[in-house]
Amino acid sequence: MMPTTLPEPELYLPGTGEPSLRWGIVGPGWIAGEFAQAVRRHTAQKIVAVSSRSRDRAVSFAALHGIGLALDSAEELVNHPDVDVVYVATPQREHLAIGLTAIAAGKHVLIEKPIAMNAAEAQSLADASSAAGVMLMEAMWSRYLPQASVIRRLLDDGVVGQVRGVLADHGQIVANRPGQRHYLPEEGGGALLELGIYLIQLDSMALGTPRGVIAVGGMTETGVDAYSTVVLSHEADAQSTLYTSIVARTPMTAVIAGSEASINIDSCFYAPSSFTLVGPDYSGPTLSWADQTGLKVYDGLSWEATALARFVGEGRNESPVHTLAETVSILATIDEAKAQLGQRLPSVPAEG
Ligand SMILES: NC(=O)c1ccc[n+]([C@@H]2O[C@H](COP(=O)([O-])OP(=O)(O)OC[C@H]3O[C@@H](n4cnc5c(N)ncnc54)[C@H](OP(=O)(O)O)[C@@H]3O)[C@@H](O)[C@H]2O)c1
Repeated sequence: MMPTTLPEPELYLPGTGEPSLRWGIVGPGWIAGEFAQAVRRHTAQKIVAVSSRSRDRAVSFAALHGIGLALDSAEELVNHPDVDVVYVATPQREHLAIGLTAIAAGKHVLIEKPIAMNAAEAQSLADASSAAGVMLMEAMWSRYLPQASVIRRLLDDGVVGQVRGVLADHGQIVANRPGQRHYLPEEGGGALLELGIYLIQLDSMALGTPRGVIAVGGMTETGVDAYSTVVLSHEADAQSTLYTSIVARTPMTAVIAGSEASINIDSCFYAPSSFTLVGPDYSGPTLSWADQTGLKVYDGLSWEATALARFVGEGRNESPVHTLAETVSILATIDEAKAQLGQRLPSVPAEG
């Protein structure tokens, strides 16, 4: 039965009782800059330190974002007494080592997606954080956006009926420049880990862990997955089709298709966006939802920062809307898909 209205989003609004934590950023690269800006503009969190392998880069990032401490190493940052939570924004190859060091220093940790290179590494991080009693969260920002809370509610309330599958795509053209991590296996490159992770997490949110994974696609000459279609089968006759690519741009939309209704999420489905709830009939009523918060694109990174602070205030060690078990399971799905692609397919040329 189609509802007449959609639920209100549950927002991780700043200043609603969450502690104002002191953050340190490791890796002042592209996403760190977007994060710092979003946190400064839209949260009650304080970024107090940044570390880089280069003093000059740390100093200039600190100056740009009004950060007091510019440090020379991740070790110095994670052990600094003024830092409560470490945001790891380095490439994924470094996530495990820096994450473990931060956890060992007793700090809460937010690690950029993917939290690690594979499920085994993610499990090591989860085990360490749970033993240390600190908060560990993957920066899967999509889960903390206003739209995610509304979609979760529609799923939980049974509005879409039985979820039959997720159809979604995430393709961006990434130039193959020298040293570009997306093309380097040793850096955890490849479309699935860089971009496909957004698809797998959406599927996981709607349907849980798949019981079967089939991946078909092509590799780059450098030995990473360039593009693939991943078919995930789930209990109760549900099947998802997910396409990802680093050599072609795709619409970046998503559909959660159910027996009673479907949720059509507009581009970019993983960023602040809009969606339409459509019933089973072509001519039937539809309900549209759009993010009214005014936070556009990467300003949306602020929601995950306030969410982490709220969870810490609640005494949690993991995110209730993206648990560590689920985080590991999503990487296990990617591991399996990557293994199938690497084993079955010859390399194909990728455009530079
Ligand atoms: N949430 C999102 O929407 C989103 C978007 C893009 C990327 N990401 C994720 O964020 C991470 C970083 O991506 P990015 O595109 O921001 O990368 P980036 O621009 O290359 O920045 C990464 C920074 O990490 C530092 N770094 C590099 N190698 C390092 C190493 N071996 N040890 C320690 N620090 C190192 C570098 O800073 P110094 O050289 O100054 O130390 C570099 O500036 C990746 O895991 C990526 O998947 C997330």
